[in-house]
Amino acid sequence: MRAVVVYESMYGNTHLVADAIGTGLETAFDVWVVPVSQADPAVLDGADLIVAGGPTHVHGMSREATRKAAVEAADKLESPLEAEPDAAGPGLREWFASLGRYPVKAAAFDTRMHGPAALTGRASKGVARLFRAHGFEVIAEPESFLVTKQDRLEPHETARAREWGAELAASIAPSPAPGTRG
Ligand SMILES: Cc1cc2nc3c(=O)[nH]c(=O)nc-3n(C[C@H](O)[C@H](O)[C@H](O)COP(=O)(O)O)c2cc1C
Repeated sequence: MRAVVVYESMYGNTHLVADAIGTGLETAFDVWVVPVSQADPAVLDGADLIVAGGPTHVHGMSREATRKAAVEAADKLESPLEAEPDAAGPGLREWFASLGRYPVKAAAFDTRMHGPAALTGRASKGVARLFRAHGFEVIAEPESFLVTKQDRLEPHETARAREWGAELAASIAPSPAPGTRG
């Protein structure tokens, strides 16, 4: 069975989370982790699970203008942040617009600031909505992983992402009970 984790990331945090989710999924899947710029339909073909996530920008999924602002902020001399190679490129919103219908299992995640989601917003809700609009079967509640005010992942978030990936894997491909034959 194959799972694909598609991520969008400006400063690398969502990329780290995607890698960790991929590690968790490896308990049951052959896993490909790909940036949204490389997630063409050939990558999705034959996949049994698609997981997608991106950063929360202005309470939801990024747009061209917010990605541009994120890259400009990183380019400032005093910024310790470094933009990912394709940060200014197309995001998940544009990726979904290029997709047909896929009757495939899916799950959505995001990264966002600490705090009640009602205040911060969360991109994963939009990702889950677009999954459904394209015929995917969303199998888990959207999940958020948190960054600090300095735009670094909070401690333990990669471990939590790994666990979330493993839980997704177990929900689709539960391991056989001890003593049973597969
Ligand atoms: C233009 C812009 C707008 C943002 N708006 C929000 C927001 O509304 N809510 C929030 O929780 N975080 C917001 N953030 C913080 C991002 O969620 C954070 O930078 C992101 O999770 C880091 O992931 P990345 O390194 O993969 O880009 C914003 C960041 C940028 C650059």
